[in-house]
Amino acid sequence: MRLTDEENSILDGKRGEAARIALSVLVDLGTLFGAEELMRVSQVHIDATLYMVEAGLEFAEKMVDWGGTVAVPTSLNPSAIDLQRWDALRVPAETLSKHKRLEAAYLNMRATPTWTCAPYQHGIIPRFGEQIAWGESNAIAFANSIIGARTNRYADLMDICAAIIGKVPKFGLHLAENRKADILIELKDVSSRMFADDAIYPLLGYLLGEMAGDRVAAVTGMPQDVKIDSLKGFCAAAASSGAVGLCHLVGLTPEAQTLEMCLQGNKPRRVLEITPAAIRKAQEHLCMVKNDAVDLVVTGCPHYSTAEFMRLAQLIKDKRIHESVVFWVFTNRTVFAWIKNKGILSDLIAGGVMVFTDGCPLQYPRESWPFKAAMTDSAKFANYCFSQRGLDAVYAGIEDCVETALRGKICRKDSPWNKK
Ligand code: F3S
Repeated sequence: MRLTDEENSILDGKRGEAARIALSVLVDLGTLFGAEELMRVSQVHIDATLYMVEAGLEFAEKMVDWGGTVAVPTSLNPSAIDLQRWDALRVPAETLSKHKRLEAAYLNMRATPTWTCAPYQHGIIPRFGEQIAWGESNAIAFANSIIGARTNRYADLMDICAAIIGKVPKFGLHLAENRKADILIELKDVSSRMFADDAIYPLLGYLLGEMAGDRVAAVTGMPQDVKIDSLKGFCAAAASSGAVGLCHLVGLTPEAQTLEMCLQGNKPRRVLEITPAAIRKAQEHLCMVKNDAVDLVVTGCPHYSTAEFMRLAQLIKDKRIHESVVFWVFTNRTVFAWIKNKGILSDLIAGGVMVFTDGCPLQYPRESWPFKAAMTDSAKFANYCFSQRGLDAVYAGIEDCVETALRGKICRKDSPWNKK
């Protein structure tokens, strides 16, 4: 790689050991992908915020010991736990201590404690065309596909290196030519009645991820009035069933106002379809529960927005969650403060809902909560739940989730795509 004098001096240790290590990792990454040089990024979102293994924690702490601080505005993905209400989440002492050490490391690096996986809603929000370095698959897919910012799918720890240097190798989705759509996915016979049910969007995302894998897809037929929270659920699902970093929703993605724009003058290598039958199949696939019993209803994967809380509060108004069910919502501290001020939080708590910040429901402490089955309005959560927690899950829209939680047994209305 071609390095500037300043970059070579960092490699010589002139900016300290943390910067030297961080830059050498980025140079190795760039060499691996054939990048010719490094480029500046305006901001970083760090995904390495969960304690997974000791090495991850030690890496963050070592960087602090070596004087590492972030060079650009840097936000943080969720911790595994609610760092403030950890007792209500029944977090074991050892898990708490590891996450508190991670928290201290990132605060010492001067990262912003956003602790959210929806940084595009409440974080350091990029603009169209901005070069950024984000971790967290749903956030990456959203940043590239909905905002039109440019990031690769940065892996854990690589994100810390990018934050300390404020640069990444110039390759992949940072370059216009690599953002060209390779395959075309057409939504076929999907009616406006189907689009009116918000539960369709995570299912569409799930199907797109399966079809696209790690390729860039263009999707035609998405309605132009789709809500931002539906796009959030779409991107999260797509990036969980496939390694999707970018998909062009024609007419919605800023750089894909027309199909020609995202194909960059080429023809798609493959043309695929998503039909109501495929949507039905995706829904069946995301239902692992064998009978009508669930004891956990969980939402906020990705973190819930204020609009989502307003809808939830309307659905639960003056009712109470069944005693056999635990109802969790995960969000960030900003939204938490807003719903508290608006009185939504006290209404939800009165209805039996537990609201957590900072954390990730997929990382809940299993030993403290021996659930048997979960229902969720997140296709991402349903997709990962069994493999990561050993818990059967069923995906449904938020209305079904609330009805299930109120009655204490699975209730699912007939979806428009189920009517043949
Ligand atoms: Fe966020 Fe955890 Fe879901 S990080 S997207 S709540 S799996």
